[in-house]
Amino acid sequence: MNIIVTNKLAGRLMEADGEPVSGQQLADEFGISRTAVWKHIKDLQEKGYEISSIKKKGYTLTGIPDSLEAAAIQPLLKTVRYGKTLEYLSSCESTQIIAHQLAQQLVPDGTVVLSEEQTAGRGRMARKWDSAHGKGIWMSIILRPDIPLQRAPQFTLIAAVSVVRAIEEVTGLNPDIKWPNDILLNGKKCTGILTELQSDADGIQALIIGIGLNANQEMEDFSDEVKDIATSLKLKKGSPVSRQELVRSILYYLELYTAIYIDEGFAAIKLMWEGYSTTIGKPVRARMAKETLEGIAESITDEGVLQIRTPDGKLHGIYSADIEM
Ligand code: BTN
Repeated sequence: MNIIVTNKLAGRLMEADGEPVSGQQLADEFGISRTAVWKHIKDLQEKGYEISSIKKKGYTLTGIPDSLEAAAIQPLLKTVRYGKTLEYLSSCESTQIIAHQLAQQLVPDGTVVLSEEQTAGRGRMARKWDSAHGKGIWMSIILRPDIPLQRAPQFTLIAAVSVVRAIEEVTGLNPDIKWPNDILLNGKKCTGILTELQSDADGIQALIIGIGLNANQEMEDFSDEVKDIATSLKLKKGSPVSRQELVRSILYYLELYTAIYIDEGFAAIKLMWEGYSTTIGKPVRARMAKETLEGIAESITDEGVLQIRTPDGKLHGIYSADIEM
């Protein structure tokens, strides 16, 4: 059985949006026999796709499995490039590791790695990232922007704005951003973003944007270390959310905002980021490796650097820190 045909057939039924498609029509469109169509349908049903078959009308898709495999994500994807190459794993150590390996093989801009679970998911500052099976979105996106190295941190902010827009669109929730990359619901973290780089003398070869989004966890799915500071979209909304729609929406906004950024520069992104930020204008404590600073978070620069004014009137540029408010 050809998996590509099976996946395309799943996509065709998804696009039909609940309307029946006849076996003959599918056979004609795919250039295969009706018996072959039936075999692909059986294969999809075994994978968890709910497909009813009504005599003289055809096949109707009534439910799809809650999986992030390409067949479930790609048919309704509204992007031009992002997500068109998609590597799906049921388990891996970290999607960042896989993405770094793929990036060296010259895969295209917008290649996506998704895994149902990570056994060694990693966060900023070498922290571990809880990645329970099937509960969240553990995704790394390989981008190849033609920008100078020092502008790379701006992509963390582009990614943050994209994820917030996607959460708003798919769930109706209204998250905030805590500098630089934490997405919060009622002060608790529902998403973290980790941006890593591959570069050489010619500049950036790849940006690997890792997104960890807590979608459908219950409280007991979080480890004791993060229970008090983490939340999921389901916990806040009170009902499960569609991981598939979220992935599609994140990729849509990431592609859109990256295009705006490349055409018009960082100003428009910065404006959106500031609109979602809980950090700017507030008193904060910035914990860094060697020192801790307290003051008012005044603004971010065009490079995404946080500006904190301390009580002595001095302005400090913060590149990387844990912010407490
Ligand atoms: C943070 O510390 O806030 C960043 C967390 C980033 C987690 C994501 S999950 C997908 C990708 N793979 C990883 O191992 N980390 C990132």
